[in-house]
Amino acid sequence: MMKEIYQVPTSQSLQGDVIISGAKNAVLPLMAATLLCRGISIINNVPQLDDVNTMAEVLRYLGAKVEHQNSSLTIDTRECDGYQAPYHLVTKMRASIYVLGPLLARLGQASVALPGGCAWGPRPVDLHIAGMQALSAKVELSHGNIHAHAGRLQGADFTFSISSVGATVNLLLASVLADGTTRLFNAAIEPEIDNLVDQLNAMGAQIFGKGTSTLVIEGVTELKAATIDAIPDRIEAGTYLIAGAITQGKVTVKQVQPAHLTALIDSLTATGTLICCEDDSITIDAQQRALQPISIKTGPYPLFATDLQPQWMALCVSLTGVSQVTDTIYPDRFQHVAELCRLGANIRVKGNTACIIGTPNLSGAPVKASDLRAGAALILAGLIASDYTEISDIHHLDRGYQNLIGKFATLGATIKRSHHPVATNQAIAAPLLSLCG
Ligand code: UD1
Repeated sequence: MMKEIYQVPTSQSLQGDVIISGAKNAVLPLMAATLLCRGISIINNVPQLDDVNTMAEVLRYLGAKVEHQNSSLTIDTRECDGYQAPYHLVTKMRASIYVLGPLLARLGQASVALPGGCAWGPRPVDLHIAGMQALSAKVELSHGNIHAHAGRLQGADFTFSISSVGATVNLLLASVLADGTTRLFNAAIEPEIDNLVDQLNAMGAQIFGKGTSTLVIEGVTELKAATIDAIPDRIEAGTYLIAGAITQGKVTVKQVQPAHLTALIDSLTATGTLICCEDDSITIDAQQRALQPISIKTGPYPLFATDLQPQWMALCVSLTGVSQVTDTIYPDRFQHVAELCRLGANIRVKGNTACIIGTPNLSGAPVKASDLRAGAALILAGLIASDYTEISDIHHLDRGYQNLIGKFATLGATIKRSHHPVATNQAIAAPLLSLCG
């Protein structure tokens, strides 16, 4: 049997420009929003990623026609009447739950599999459900599914007990077609939410308070198809900026919105790198600079993004000195720690904080990507580890990094994707048998 791996050799300082793709975490809600109308919607700046393909599969399952050409996605929902999102699709990607709100709003019913946990914890969806109930939906949980019914949803006030990107998306998608006014308090203010608000308003919704934690939605009876551009992927951009820092290189990320990366830029500056922002690009210059590790704590936007926490840890691991990384969003998001330690990192985790004693002497080893951003962290660490780092379970990276090999190649790193033999039970059993025999 063969498995695919990334082989990451020790790299020189990365140098050059990299064009950043559209944000998958923006595209997924934009795709779900097309279910709110019957028409042909277009989303531009869409990356070719497994998560986008999974959401396309969900929409097709519901009856939509979806085409992805170059970076444009055309979604035809004129004959889209399905209301069930099954487990085999939802389990591939949690964001499939975004179809709950629009199906309930337009069709009055939805049956969506509960997404379950993920690599770093249980990740509940109680806020999504409580929000639908606040809009007068009847919700039952049975056989691992969320079954929701409503006549027309009724506008209401709803306060998120904690800031949740996904629950804010779902409540926006449900309330735009509700009867009357909905007010969402403590709503998430991530840039991906603003992108969704722009799309919904272009479809004819009446949403006020964009960019703030209080969103007011005046329900309308019908929405029309629209065209929207997905915003740039701030997490992809951040990953390449950290790649510039960790290899002490000079990297420019292009087609980005620097304002979306303030927390990372501040932290990178504090390490001792030089950062220069222009309208739609950011350059990091870490050449011949003695960098120091900087402690970070993740939080809701605009604080440090949890989706950049593993990559940041890879940087701290490689710099001489002591630092701490605290994740307040996902206290268990430390699956990458054990793998970084296989490369020679010295990390202790206590509660939601990792204490890191950095060393520039990492050495390549076979490691496993436990999830998307953990995989990115291993690539970054592999760039400065001696010899080769071989990363397995790289399907996780296909969920979120378009053309990863090509983009690193433009910066001078020659990462290879190759097939690697996996020991089967038979292959393992044979020598054991001969030992026993
Ligand atoms: C989104 C992102 C993910 C990112 C996360 C936090 C997408 C597709 N995914 O995930 O990459 O890591 O935001 O920035 O955009 N929570 C509850 N109950 C709920 C919902 C969430 O307790 O019903 C908790 C979560 O366990 C977590 C916190 O709220 O501790 C924030 O999670 P949330 O913002 O909802 O994350 P996602 O939308 O799932």
